[in-house]
Amino acid sequence: MNIIEIENKHTSGLYSKQNFAIVRGQGATLWDAEGNEYIDCSSGHGVANLGHAHPKVAAAVAEQAAKLVTLFETFPNDQRAALMEKLTALTPGLDRVFFCNSGTESVEAAIKFARLSTGRAEIVAAMRGFHGRTFGSLSATWNKKYRQPFEPLVPGFSHIPYNNIGALEKAVTEKTAAVLLEAVQGEGGVYPAEPAFLQAARQICSERGALLVIDEVQSGFGRTGKMFAYQHYGITPDMLCVAKSLAGGIPMGAVLLGPAVKNLGAGLHGSTFGGNPLSCAAAVAALTAMEEENLPQQAAEKGAYLMEKLRAIQSPNLREVRGLGLMIGVELKQKVAPYLKALQEKRIIALNAGLTVIRLLPPLVITYEQLDVVVAALRNVLSEERHQDEE
Ligand SMILES: Cc1ncc(COP(=O)(O)O)c(C=O)c1O
Repeated sequence: MNIIEIENKHTSGLYSKQNFAIVRGQGATLWDAEGNEYIDCSSGHGVANLGHAHPKVAAAVAEQAAKLVTLFETFPNDQRAALMEKLTALTPGLDRVFFCNSGTESVEAAIKFARLSTGRAEIVAAMRGFHGRTFGSLSATWNKKYRQPFEPLVPGFSHIPYNNIGALEKAVTEKTAAVLLEAVQGEGGVYPAEPAFLQAARQICSERGALLVIDEVQSGFGRTGKMFAYQHYGITPDMLCVAKSLAGGIPMGAVLLGPAVKNLGAGLHGSTFGGNPLSCAAAVAALTAMEEENLPQQAAEKGAYLMEKLRAIQSPNLREVRGLGLMIGVELKQKVAPYLKALQEKRIIALNAGLTVIRLLPPLVITYEQLDVVVAALRNVLSEERHQDEE
């Protein structure tokens, strides 16, 4: 079977395909169909915080698949109940939860819940923000590239400069249902929030009757050195959107709900697959493993190590290294596409965040030896200027 030919023939066209097929993973290592080994600094776009093929997640999925895969949330279930307890224990003050299947669905739900809770329609989001691609979350997303082809979008959304308290003060009015922010902007270039900004957002929302929604679809589950990035900032949001790593790689999203979230009457929102026993069992196993392996601490320590080594790289092409934990952006003075390609030739898979930022989101279980290989490869790749027309 020629995997690449078949995919190229049948693809929707929405993804620019690589020219090698990945068929297996373990920890932070991936293998292609020819048996070549890669270091994964992408985690499947931030999903594999626990590493690929975690044995406890694999065992939980296999066991639950043989027991009960699907069940609508009107019927209580042992795995869902266990997950509800486990997840809400990680987010003091947010003790109810809505389950869905992806990041964009969790943001979509939070937007609807904010309208239901406040009776207001408007959402204030941030420039450079990314919240997903369905119409509600796309309306909160900033980048024109994702928005423009699909206009008209949902009305009532505005965007302020991230980390700008004055702009937030002006934007939040008696019509604002919610302020929706990432604690660390991911797709937008890896920009952590300034503490004063998130704290001001919390205060302004509380004073003006708007809800604060934090989108941690990318920054959640240990990635930044705490279980959730907002926990660095001494605030509690009214809603927390999560997905990606929640179920150890099995598709799942959730919105955690604080006491200000109201009026969620039966049947007003829902999801066929949301809270299914298979994803719940995977998530219980994943969260248990994250705790047992002290995943947030691993991210804090390895992130500090990696950031220090990256900052020591001397290269005229390097503008800035920034991030929190193992959510790291390496901003170049040039477009990153040819640098990512050069890294790939050295068997390292990394991401971009916009045109000029290399984004490193390795599984948090990556080894120090692998981090050293990544640093050496980046040093080498950055030592040469690369043709900007290279794809
Ligand atoms: C912060 C943030 N929110 C929402 C999403 C959308 O998640 P999904 O692709 O699962 O719909 C993403 C995806 O990258 C994200 O980074």
